[in-house]
Amino acid sequence: EKRARQAMQEAHQLVSKLYHYVLTETPYGVEAVKYLTKRGMSQQTLTEYQIGFAPDSWDFVTQFLKKRNFSQDLMVEAGLLAKSDAGKVFDRFRGRVMFPIHDSQGNVIGFGGRLLDNTQPKSQPKYLNSPESLLFNKSATIFNLHRARPYIRKRKQVLLFEGYVDVVSAWQAGFMQGVATLGTALTEQQARILRRNVDSVVLCYDGDAAGQEATSKAIHVLQQAGLIVRVAPLPQGTDPDDYIRQHGAEAFSQQVLLQAMPITAFRLKHLRSQYVIKDETDKTRLIAKAVDIINELDSPVERDLYQRQLAEEYSLTLGDLKWESKRAYNQQ
Ligand code: CTP
Ligand code: MN
Ligand code: MN
Ligand code: MN
Ligand code: MN
Repeated sequence: EKRARQAMQEAHQLVSKLYHYVLTETPYGVEAVKYLTKRGMSQQTLTEYQIGFAPDSWDFVTQFLKKRNFSQDLMVEAGLLAKSDAGKVFDRFRGRVMFPIHDSQGNVIGFGGRLLDNTQPKSQPKYLNSPESLLFNKSATIFNLHRARPYIRKRKQVLLFEGYVDVVSAWQAGFMQGVATLGTALTEQQARILRRNVDSVVLCYDGDAAGQEATSKAIHVLQQAGLIVRVAPLPQGTDPDDYIRQHGAEAFSQQVLLQAMPITAFRLKHLRSQYVIKDETDKTRLIAKAVDIINELDSPVERDLYQRQLAEEYSLTLGDLKWESKRAYNQQ
């Protein structure tokens, strides 16, 4: 098992270099470089992140590994190659921009591959990640942690993104304390790993419905791990990469990161966005739900602050609202 892991490791290291070489030094990579440049990625970023390109071929990597005497079955298990039902072995990643994924020591253990926009056949997923293997345990891996760790510790804060393009984009704009999960929901294990490095997380998920849902779930997991959580507001329909490209680093810092909300504020905002208020009945229901959210706070001072805001927002007397709160609390 140890030898198998070592061989997988070595193959990932070599293939990562190969993909990067194809992107930056060969005609096969020209179109992908154009695509990445159009997305605003600099040459320096391509080098730093060892971004690569998997040529649109069935046997490019297959031949490369064969020449170096790697066992085909092992390479299939590692997810660099794939095997058809008929037993034919072929390249798993074809015609994709390749993002190497590292473990916390900086070893390549997997890849995320993205199709170029113009060559996107509808039958293929936009992103294809390496499968779980002896080497690659998705639920225990955090994208970019090995690079971001010193910055996370120095800033005493980690930025958690949904996509690795967001991490890369933020890094290029000067926000180096960013990490991401790997196309899956944040796991308890990932939250515990973050907790070992920092005590405060700013969630920067996409400003779409999926991002909001994922935010609610991540808040819970992060809090369970003992982390302080804030949520950065992204405008509807944009993600951090879009935002940085449209508005720049300064705006991202001032309008997004510095506006990060404590989770109660986020939950109250999320609640308001879910309700259409037509009459007093709707309003009363909304207030009741808001009261429940506020009642979950342990600190009486914090409860008081949010109750005052809520009272003001709906022109209630603080006395009435506090009475309502107590009643709701006792009914639980
Ligand atoms: N994802 C995935 N498979 C897909 C779509 C998404 O694994 N078919 C994961 C990827 O990790 C992706 C994240 O979910 O980074 C968020 O999805 P999305 O917002 O659609 O992707 P972006 O990161 O914004 O990618 P891009 O800007 O390149 O479109
Ligand atoms: Mn999204
Ligand atoms: Mn996105
Ligand atoms: Mn997108
Ligand atoms: Mn995006």
